[in-house]
Amino acid sequence: MPQMIEYDWTNLRADILGPGHGLTRAELEARREQARVAVGKFLGRVERGEVGFPRLPFQTEPVEQVEQYVRSLRGRYKSVLLLGIGGSALGPYALDVAANGPHPFRKKKIPAELVVVDNVDPLLLHRAMERLDPRKTLVVVVTKSGSTAETMAQFLIAYHWLRKKLGSKRAARQVAAVTDPNKGDLLAIARREKFELFAIPPNVGGRFSVLTPVGLLPAALVGVNIRRLVQGAGDIAEACRLPELESNPALASALHQYILDTRYGKTIQVIYSYSNTLWALAFWYRQLWAESLGKRVDRSKREVLSGQTPVVALGVTDQHSQSQLYMEGPRDKTVTFWEETTNAHTVRIPKLFGKYDSTGYLGGKTLNELFRAEKSATELALTEAGRPNSTFLFPRADEYYVGQMMMLCMFQAAYAGELYDINAFDQPGVQLSKDLTYALLGRAGFDAERSRIAAYRKQKESLEKK
Ligand code: PA5
Repeated sequence: MPQMIEYDWTNLRADILGPGHGLTRAELEARREQARVAVGKFLGRVERGEVGFPRLPFQTEPVEQVEQYVRSLRGRYKSVLLLGIGGSALGPYALDVAANGPHPFRKKKIPAELVVVDNVDPLLLHRAMERLDPRKTLVVVVTKSGSTAETMAQFLIAYHWLRKKLGSKRAARQVAAVTDPNKGDLLAIARREKFELFAIPPNVGGRFSVLTPVGLLPAALVGVNIRRLVQGAGDIAEACRLPELESNPALASALHQYILDTRYGKTIQVIYSYSNTLWALAFWYRQLWAESLGKRVDRSKREVLSGQTPVVALGVTDQHSQSQLYMEGPRDKTVTFWEETTNAHTVRIPKLFGKYDSTGYLGGKTLNELFRAEKSATELALTEAGRPNSTFLFPRADEYYVGQMMMLCMFQAAYAGELYDINAFDQPGVQLSKDLTYALLGRAGFDAERSRIAAYRKQKESLEKK
């Protein structure tokens, strides 16, 4: 039986935090049936093929296609320029950081550097073009819809750059596209230009797509062990389908956050990562939690304005920036620590200046001990202050456990969606911004949005004159 990520929620309990500050046995018992129903409802959606992410670890074809392609390149590229945004960028970036280390503390030997351009700040693409060697750069363009303005603009610029430097034929060989297999302009362009093409299953949405070629392709190109990643995800998937709170950490943590938010006013969840390796993963989670649960209406179209705001913090760095607020500020937060039980490296603190109070006790210990002590101290201080906190313990921060955590978090978001009774898999707010941007820039077919913009401008102008 492989070791699993552990979920310790002792410090969410009223028994330790004090009455009114945490979860009681009675209310958890009372919600048991609701949790069981949430599992049934969600697994029903999976059975009907509406939601595809739980099945991804058991599909071998995408992994094989990615591996075959990466092998065929035979280490030809020094850089992988990833063009994508949101769910099309955060996953690959998290995997790269988890496997190759945070910037600038990277592993010595990496097959290629991942350069993620997930914004249209002109500086980013300008610098990327300036610094990358077009002969040694593979462009990977990722968009599920095949039409997001940011990604398509970046693609036009990068492809033009490749063509100018290398000629059309070679440029086309240096682009791989990841998109919906049935529709979208990127699909049409990729077919026309004969780009290497990878599919995102239609029933897997952007923020749930990291275990499709969206994450697998860039990850494999930069040396991430995608087999271990997928194995980790597959190994925890079974537990994540169980209806009992005690055996399903995704379900238990979803229920805990749901109650903390809706009953105790913990409208903010701080992900406190005591690991630089997992730091980018926390940003991936932030999108997953925010976009999945932040909804105006529930499934019966009643206005609910749901969602808990995810905030990301880095331990111990943010102990000197954020912890004061978390301990003594408004009681609107719950803290979720992420901690590695074994670090990849042990660093000893030399025994120097033993006569001094501030150095004497440190000499001979390890940075690992200091790191752990700092986390324990923060946990204790929060608990004493009646601030609910829980910990996900990673036996190691490697591909296997990152795969486990990604699967756990996706199930968690799905179950939380069922508890709030909202659709965790759409994103009408994101779509609205996309459509308004298309309208502003004159894309055909967005006349209703253009009228809306004109009305808004008129109203704003009239108010400015007053
Ligand atoms: O989770 C989502 O669906 C979104 O965040 C998308 O990933 C993001 O908007 C990018 O969309 P696309 O992949 O279609 O370019």
